[in-house]
Amino acid sequence: MVLKQAFLIVFLCGFPFSVMAASPNIPPHLDRQKLVYGCGSCHVGFNFRSGGGTNGCLNCHGNSSKVIRGLVSAGVEIKNIESEFKKTYRHPTLEVSGVHSSKEELPETNPRAPRHADCADCHDPHLVSPANRFAGIKGKRIGNIMADITNEYELCYRCHAESANLPGRFSNKRAELSMNNPSFHPVEGEGKNSVVISLLKPYKEKKVNPADISIIQCGDCHGSDSPSSPKGPHGSNYPYILADNYSTRDNEPESVYAYALCYRCHNRASILGNESFKFHSLHIQGKGNGAVAVGGTSCHTCHNSHGSTEYKYLIKFDPEVVSPNSKGMLKFVEKGVSSFRGECYLSCHGVDHSPKSY
Ligand code: HEC
Ligand code: HEC
Ligand code: HEC
Ligand code: HEC
Ligand code: HEC
Ligand code: HEC
Ligand code: HEC
Repeated sequence: MVLKQAFLIVFLCGFPFSVMAASPNIPPHLDRQKLVYGCGSCHVGFNFRSGGGTNGCLNCHGNSSKVIRGLVSAGVEIKNIESEFKKTYRHPTLEVSGVHSSKEELPETNPRAPRHADCADCHDPHLVSPANRFAGIKGKRIGNIMADITNEYELCYRCHAESANLPGRFSNKRAELSMNNPSFHPVEGEGKNSVVISLLKPYKEKKVNPADISIIQCGDCHGSDSPSSPKGPHGSNYPYILADNYSTRDNEPESVYAYALCYRCHNRASILGNESFKFHSLHIQGKGNGAVAVGGTSCHTCHNSHGSTEYKYLIKFDPEVVSPNSKGMLKFVEKGVSSFRGECYLSCHGVDHSPKSY
């Protein structure tokens, strides 16, 4: 088997490389001026069934610069991403190897298929380039065919949406971020709220003319904790592979650090100054008067980070902290557009809301 593939490689490597190298748009992995051994840079001793594994990629994109010099022409800069995958929170790329197959179709339809995320699941080894890191990855359904993706979120939905093997503790991200929801972070397209008063530049806190559209990406929140590291959701020192710290705990003292991720885009002074929800600071910072916990509570107690299938303002109460009120009700009622008024029916920290209004 291996021998047959070796022949295949020798045969295929007869490809007219010089012709390819002449094109300015040639992907770097197929550019003989960059990868001196051409196809052989990757396809020597390569197991086609499992997509070759991830170590092949780390020969060049890893820590051992010795190897890099031999495989790549002098002066070509290569992104080293190995240390990202050594961080505490990471895609299981190096842990789950030999599971990927070039024949597999994602989203996964077999509930028993092992979860994995190889380099080749997210990057097409032949077509990837600095200009388009998703070139050649399929995942956008147009009728019956799967077309190449053009947006980062489509890449993520290959494994974080309808996958039959999605672990029970995780939710379908396509459903959470859907533009049909009453509210969502604006990843797929323009958000529904035209006055998000806390928004920092370059985002628009008020929609004045039609061009005032704020769009963000999964990668604005998920990615390396270090801005100087290579981009991408490979790994981070913060939980959930987040680019900044975000505490989801109840009874947490408020600080710049506790909700650093949100404060990247939402002005802390505006939130704690109660410019929208007039009891923000009471809940987030707490009071210590017995009615509310000393430490306050996380944004996570009231907001979903992606979207809400039920309510406006990303409202989704954390069932670990919030429970139905004395009449068995648990709901949020919004009162008027941009009026910053609403009602909550719930019980939290022993305080009955039947309802409490703002
Ligand atoms: C940067 C490393 C790299 C280089 C360079 C490279 N390949 Fe590949 N190739 C891969 C990987 C990884 C796979 C497996 C893809 C998968 O399983 O999803 C693959 C798969 C293949 C396959 C199996 C069919 C397929 O597309 O999955 C063929 C055939 C192939 N490569 C031929 C070539 C030829 C010919 C060249 C030179 C023109 C070349 N490769 C250069 C990494 C590389
Ligand atoms: C033989 C060395 C080599 C191997 C093996 C290799 N790469 Fe690369 N890779 C390169 C070079 C050279 C570039 C181009 C850098 C440039 O042009 O700036 C590159 C570019 C990339 C880019 C675009 C990076 C950017 O700067 O935006 C990605 C993504 C990438 N490789 C992923 C992979 C993956 C995934 C694998 C394994 C399937 C792999 N590489 C294997 C040498 C290699
Ligand atoms: C090829 C499949 C695949 C793709 C594509 C993929 N992931 Fe993942 N992701 C996984 C697997 C497997 C895990 C490990 C946990 C699990 O099984 O869900 C994971 C874990 C995560 C986690 C951490 C969850 C936790 O609680 O620790 C985040 C965050 C994440 N992915 C975000 C993304 C984003 C953002 C994208 C798109 C840029 C993406 N993923 C694309 C397979 C994938
Ligand atoms: C505004 C910031 C933000 C954006 C944008 C964002 N996320 Fe998240 N994500 C979070 C936070 C914060 C968490 C931590 C737990 C929580 O709040 O649910 C998280 C958790 C996750 C998790 C693990 C827990 C779970 O609920 O499954 C996955 C997987 C994930 N996000 C995928 C994605 C994908 C895919 C996208 C883009 C389609 C995306 N995220 C966009 C902030 C964001
Ligand atoms: C879960 C999906 C996923 C996996 C697995 C993954 N990547 Fe990436 N990678 C991305 C995304 C998304 C980006 C682009 C981020 C951006 O442009 O904002 C990226 C970017 C990169 C870059 C360019 C970084 C930069 O700053 O220019 C390189 C190089 C790279 N990946 C290599 C690899 C290698 C090698 C592996 C396997 C060891 C791998 N990736 C595994 C999703 C992934
Ligand atoms: C990368 C920037 C970014 C980050 C990080 C971010 N947001 Fe947002 N957020 C936005 C943008 C842009 C909007 C505006 C959406 C719109 O136009 O309706 C928004 C809107 C919101 C809204 C109002 C949604 C509505 O429809 O009324 C809430 C609530 C919110 N964010 C909470 C959070 C929380 C909690 C965090 C931290 C987990 C967070 N955001 C992190 C960019 C961000
Ligand atoms: C006790 C529940 C609760 C907690 C905790 C909470 N919020 Fe809110 N938040 C709300 C409600 C209710 C609204 C809707 C106000 C309205 O009617 O417009 C809101 C609105 C928002 C908005 C949209 C309007 C604006 O101010 O731009 C943002 C952004 C926001 N919250 C961010 C946060 C962040 C960040 C945290 C944590 C640091 C947080 N919230 C904690 C209940 C909460």
